[in-house]
Amino acid sequence: MPVAFSGDPAAGEAAFRQCIACHVVVDEAGETLAGRNAQVGPNLYGIAGRQAGQVDGFKYSRSMEAAGEAGLEWTEDTFVTYVQDPTAYLRDYLDDPRARGAMTHRVRKEDEAYDVYAYLANLAEE
Ligand code: HEC
Repeated sequence: MPVAFSGDPAAGEAAFRQCIACHVVVDEAGETLAGRNAQVGPNLYGIAGRQAGQVDGFKYSRSMEAAGEAGLEWTEDTFVTYVQDPTAYLRDYLDDPRARGAMTHRVRKEDEAYDVYAYLANLAEE
């Protein structure tokens, strides 16, 4: 049975447009499922359930590396909070007021964050 997410994947596909300046979704076979070829941010394929900071060859911020090492995983909850304010999320997660993430974009509407998560989770399951 497919896992149910709170968001709407179709709305998420539209909302993902705000991500493609920096991110792609490329599967294991090298096929581009979303985005163009931006490499400012890491490939978001299979992000649902993935440990943070794990894309090979991508140079993460020290704070994101530290969060991944400390066990941060992308679930609906962590993803939705993170994308609304990445640096604030890492400060909170690491309990370090000087932590700083490299993602400067913020999703302004919580609904959109849920939708994008559902979209990305479905892409990896197809
Ligand atoms: C301006 C460029 C930019 C935009 C736009 C952007 N991101 Fe990012 N994103 C980044 C960068 C850079 C990182 C790496 C963060 C770090 O190392 O601290 C990142 C990291 C992430 C991560 C963590 C990935 C991992 O491998 O742990 C997620 C999840 C994410 N972005 C989701 C999104 C979503 C969803 C959107 C659109 C709503 C988005 N980003 C828009 C630049 C961007």
